[in-house]
Amino acid sequence: MQAQAKPLTFNTPESSTKTEATALIKLRIEALSKHYGNICALQSLNLEVRSGELLTLLGASGSGKTTLLQVISGLVAPSSGRIVIDGQDQTHAPAHKRGIGVVFQNYALFPHLTVAQNVAFALDMRGVSRSEARVQVADALAMVGLKDLHQRFPRELSGGQQQRVALARCFVYKPSLILMDEPLSALDRQLRESMQMEIKRLHRETGSTIIFVTHDQDEALALSDRICLMHNGRIEQIDAPQVMYERPRSVAVARFIGLSNVIQGRVMTGDRIESADGTFALPGGHGFAPGDQAALVVRPEHIVLEDTGVVQGQVIESVYAGVETRVVLRLASGNSIIARRASGMPSLPLGAVLGVQWPTHQGHVLKA
Ligand SMILES: Nc1ncnc2c1ncn2[C@@H]1O[C@H](COP(=O)(O)OP(=O)(O)O)[C@@H](O)[C@H]1O
Ligand SMILES: [Mg+2]
Repeated sequence: MQAQAKPLTFNTPESSTKTEATALIKLRIEALSKHYGNICALQSLNLEVRSGELLTLLGASGSGKTTLLQVISGLVAPSSGRIVIDGQDQTHAPAHKRGIGVVFQNYALFPHLTVAQNVAFALDMRGVSRSEARVQVADALAMVGLKDLHQRFPRELSGGQQQRVALARCFVYKPSLILMDEPLSALDRQLRESMQMEIKRLHRETGSTIIFVTHDQDEALALSDRICLMHNGRIEQIDAPQVMYERPRSVAVARFIGLSNVIQGRVMTGDRIESADGTFALPGGHGFAPGDQAALVVRPEHIVLEDTGVVQGQVIESVYAGVETRVVLRLASGNSIIARRASGMPSLPLGAVLGVQWPTHQGHVLKA
């Protein structure tokens, strides 16, 4: 069915005065703040979203992700700052004039309209003729694999199918900027993963710019061209998933994306750190001075467990996870270390005492 789908090409409102530089930037956010009384939901954010990219806003609950989407879409006015879309200041433009498509977590379908009517509604609103709408609705439903279900009502669909209708309803009018607020969080894991693939495909086929909100790091790693990690209404880091994982800029990022071992301590001369668990070598060029407080971060896949190591640990937990086993060791200080062992390696009995080490260059030295 999907092979029959005609690729949709999206209209990008072009401004004739657009320069080369602005053509590459779909959305620019400048010094954007939003206060609710004395709650600061967004704190002077700056962000550029490139044309055609899929950017995820990732962060814990309450970090400001929804507020940022609401301000971009025009549903909520910012306290200060500017929103520029396709080179035009849209800070005060009404929501329906911004040409933005929105998909929410709760699908918000009309219960009394069929699948096809729900999708056609978006076109009716925009004054598209009936005959033209019929073609576009059929194309959009084919794109999300729902062509055969066009006459069903929402209550006759599974959660995943309803979310596909919501996607079709958004993609059908070809917005060049699409905002999605945790659209998959209500779905079970398998369905969520297949819908992630679906969204990636829709993104690829349409060339649209998508800002996708999630609190799920795996979802962000799987989907994104770039991840924007939010924390307390601020942006902690924006980078490609691999860069974010391999070169986190702060302990908050290292902790949020993937598993991390974090050793807090004081930097000493000779590229070493003194911690509650002993003194460890630091990779060169870390930029900290002797006496500085710092955190040494090591990913679990770089931890090596052998007879001897730079510190001893006792196995307190061993969790089998298919391709790997995660082993937790307690150090004398009470801190713990987590290690990943490929399946097939001999299992480690609880209580075993082992040496813990890691290649020095695999450590990241970050602000404590
Ligand atoms: N309408 C509102 N009135 C008051 N506070 C709000 C409102 N909307 C959001 N907030 C607050 O702003 C902060 C960010 O919320 P939100 O953007 O919903 O975060 P997220 O989507 O990342 O979970 C939270 O502290 C939240 O309580
Ligand atoms: Mg939210």
